[in-house]
Amino acid sequence: MIIYPRNTWEKIWQVIIVITTTFIGMLMPIELILRDSPGLIYDRISQLSFVIFALDILFIIRYCLQEHPNEVFEENISIRRYLKTWFIIDLLAVIPFDLLFTGSILSLLRLLKMIKVGHIMSDTYQKEVRSPYLWLIGFSVYWIVLTSHWLSCGWLGLGGIPNEPDFFTRYLRALYWSVTTLTTVGYGDITPATNWQIIYTMLVQIMGVGVYGYIIGNVAGVFSKRDPARTQYVENIEKLTALVRYRQLPSSLQSRIRDYYLYLWKKRLGYDETLFLEGLPENLQRDVALYLKNDIIEKIPLFHGVRSKFMHEIAMQMEPLVLIPGDYICKEGKIGHQMFFVIQGTLSVWVGDPPEQISTMQSGDFFGEIALFMNTPRTATVRAESYCDLYTLDSSAFGKVMAQYPKIAKQIERKAKLRQGL
Ligand code: CMP
Repeated sequence: MIIYPRNTWEKIWQVIIVITTTFIGMLMPIELILRDSPGLIYDRISQLSFVIFALDILFIIRYCLQEHPNEVFEENISIRRYLKTWFIIDLLAVIPFDLLFTGSILSLLRLLKMIKVGHIMSDTYQKEVRSPYLWLIGFSVYWIVLTSHWLSCGWLGLGGIPNEPDFFTRYLRALYWSVTTLTTVGYGDITPATNWQIIYTMLVQIMGVGVYGYIIGNVAGVFSKRDPARTQYVENIEKLTALVRYRQLPSSLQSRIRDYYLYLWKKRLGYDETLFLEGLPENLQRDVALYLKNDIIEKIPLFHGVRSKFMHEIAMQMEPLVLIPGDYICKEGKIGHQMFFVIQGTLSVWVGDPPEQISTMQSGDFFGEIALFMNTPRTATVRAESYCDLYTLDSSAFGKVMAQYPKIAKQIERKAKLRQGL
């Protein structure tokens, strides 16, 4: 197991473990190939890694014995479980086989600690919400570089590059071989000569197909999932294209639909965040809704200075609505089931036959309250003059607000009466 970091020090500790293990993972195979006495730098790094890995075991035991009130998977942090599972890996990684038996294949056992690095990375990726895909790409690159390095060491170990005098050139050529084979390019300028080399090459080629698919899949996934609002926009436009092709939609209608989707996308409204909220427990829903709609609610003077409990309530009930220029949202004489808050845009109010404009509404205004408050049909027609962002409150939520918050009810009533000339 790994320490699931709760503070900066624990995070730094994880970074130290990743760096140390990476150094050991990079240098040990090279030392193995050279097979004479380990170099001084490697010797020092190996000694240091011994201390760090030993400390890691102590830290984990201490971590297991502490209380973890907020840990999501508390059962993962049991000392008995640790001793039965990860401890074995940690123990094998801490034994300096490479220093005890120079050149022995046993030293590869220390590389088991790499599993822990993988675990730390996947934990970081899972917990990262801001830019998980950047981390995913970073981690993929890390593993590809490391795998190429290991494979080139294996190739050197099998005598794949025999005729170069200095180690650096041999290593570079082996790395070139492993990268071209892994990426399934395989120019064929470095070819296997012995049976073992042929078997090794085939295995790396098969692995290469998997790695190639993995990279392509990851990169495609990253670009398609990075911006759900954009994905939604592209999907909508594709549907529009299909509709245009099969039903010969007039071009004015096409551009209106396209402009509407474009507006949703630019305003980041195309991705319906309320759908996501539905999957959360109610308390969490309320807090998220309030956070998302807070700046919007603040634009409505009616709600200034109200208690936060009310804000929570109202944030949950309000639904976003977008109007395009020319849309009618209320029709005089029709039954109304909602009232509206204007967040952005301009609307005009019309009465009579022939209709006569009596007023306009801007950001911060509300309308549609009379039908709900007085239980009458709509007293006027309201039309959007520009793109408008509104929030709606349906009659049952409106009723609740009226019953629980008489101060707001009074203000709405006053406005309704004023508008009716009462
Ligand atoms: P309602 O009757 O439900 O639907 C139409 C809305 O237009 C109405 O509620 C008011 O909110 C609004 N409205 C009606 N008359 C006026 C007016 N004179 N000035 C501004 N707004 C009005």
